[in-house]
Amino acid sequence: MAIQRPPGPNFFPYIGGVIAMKRTNPPSFFLNLARTYGDVVWYQLAGTDVYQLSHPDHIQELLVSNIHVYHKGDMDKRVLRQTLGNGLVLSDGDFWKRQRKLVAPAFHSKRIESYAETMVDFAGKVMSGWTDGTRIEMHREMTRLTLYIVSKTLYDTDVTESADGIGELVTTLAHIGNQQYTQGFVPPSWLPIPQVTEARRAVQALNGIIMPIIEARRQSGEDRGDLLSMLLQSQDEDGSQMTDQQVRDEAVTLFLAGHETTSNALSWTWALLSQHPEAEARLHAELDAVLGDRPPTFADLPKLTFTDAVFKEAMRLYPPAWALTGRQPQEDVQLAGYTIPKNSVVITFPYVVHRDARWFENPDAFRPERWLDGLEKRIPKYAYFPFGGGPRVCVGNQFALMEGKLILAALASRYQFRLTEPGPIGFDAAITLRPQGGLPMRVETRVKHHAAETTIEEAQQIPV
Ligand code: HEM
Repeated sequence: MAIQRPPGPNFFPYIGGVIAMKRTNPPSFFLNLARTYGDVVWYQLAGTDVYQLSHPDHIQELLVSNIHVYHKGDMDKRVLRQTLGNGLVLSDGDFWKRQRKLVAPAFHSKRIESYAETMVDFAGKVMSGWTDGTRIEMHREMTRLTLYIVSKTLYDTDVTESADGIGELVTTLAHIGNQQYTQGFVPPSWLPIPQVTEARRAVQALNGIIMPIIEARRQSGEDRGDLLSMLLQSQDEDGSQMTDQQVRDEAVTLFLAGHETTSNALSWTWALLSQHPEAEARLHAELDAVLGDRPPTFADLPKLTFTDAVFKEAMRLYPPAWALTGRQPQEDVQLAGYTIPKNSVVITFPYVVHRDARWFENPDAFRPERWLDGLEKRIPKYAYFPFGGGPRVCVGNQFALMEGKLILAALASRYQFRLTEPGPIGFDAAITLRPQGGLPMRVETRVKHHAAETTIEEAQQIPV
């Protein structure tokens, strides 16, 4: 019996989709497919049957109501396993459930609150090297900062010496991963080609940084109350401990997932603010009214409503996890009126759904104020999902939101940043969505609005 398929482009087998994707950039390619063919699109990409979902109701079915049918996709596992092992992002079933339960306490709200001071302190350290006119590569600065923070808060470790090296290793692995997604296969590990040998070298170098941290902690037997101690002390019902390999996989997963995404979210935010001076002025007015001359604290967050809107809007336009990992149904499944065959790949893109005019008026425009009048309650739940959703929602989402807003507030209350090469910013969509070219910017000291002259309410109502 023929399976009725959703509409979609008829690419030349195997390479056709890849060639079409190369003509533009991956995020725009998938956005165009949804705009041309609708909420459910079928196509073949590098030999795989792909179903692309773009309606919030279907996404809810995928991530929440029918989640038990799906596993993480084989292709994602093949590409990412070398780096992330069987850590939280890639594991499935009961094993994933157990590991998620183990890791979750490090992300409870009370625990996260205790990280706020560290986040602001490190923001201060990064800024201490800047004066008016300093030229920086914003993406590198944000990567350093988020790496310092994740290492200190989760592993009680200082990586100020190795942060740039780690950033480069992650970039290498992301680009190799991207190449493998595009070519549709992962070469065997014995093949002596640069893709394989470079990836191996990068993973070994990353292990060379992470493993000594784990080993030192295991040997000291010390309980520092952080995530690393929790991983090392966790025991199964039968009393067995996690293997060193599994501790490594969870630690590397959280280390990488826990900094690169937030770094991208912040980088895009600075780029957008420099291109939208009215929104930037309103942000500054809010920060000056709420903070005056002091750094932000956790207690300030509820008052920083425009800051929150700016960060949300930046992640709407440029969601760092622009594509969720593929899901593979373990049996034929009904979705959106179609039968999706076992082992095909179902994918969904926050980048695509976030730019849908049904939910967001003028969807390509940066308008933080759209979030100020309860928009989130009016749109369907999965019209905006930068952190995914359902049981596999990002475990670090509250951590990331707090971190993003505190860093934004800490930096923007002292400085503004200007692109040194104005003009459109390209995409570097290598697993996560990065700004191309590292985002060279000039630091400018800000002139403050005086708190006495503007109330918080007035500051928040400056029209944009
Ligand atoms: C702005 C920052 C962040 C964004 C946009 C983001 C986005 C996401 C998304 C979309 C997923 C779901 C992927 C999928 O369903 O395929 C995810 C999962 C995950 N994220 Fe994040 N993330 C961020 C920050 C963090 C942080 C700070 C941590 C940890 C410190 C973290 C750790 C993880 C882990 C471990 C998973 C896998 C969860 C599971 O499958 O159980 N992320 N993230």
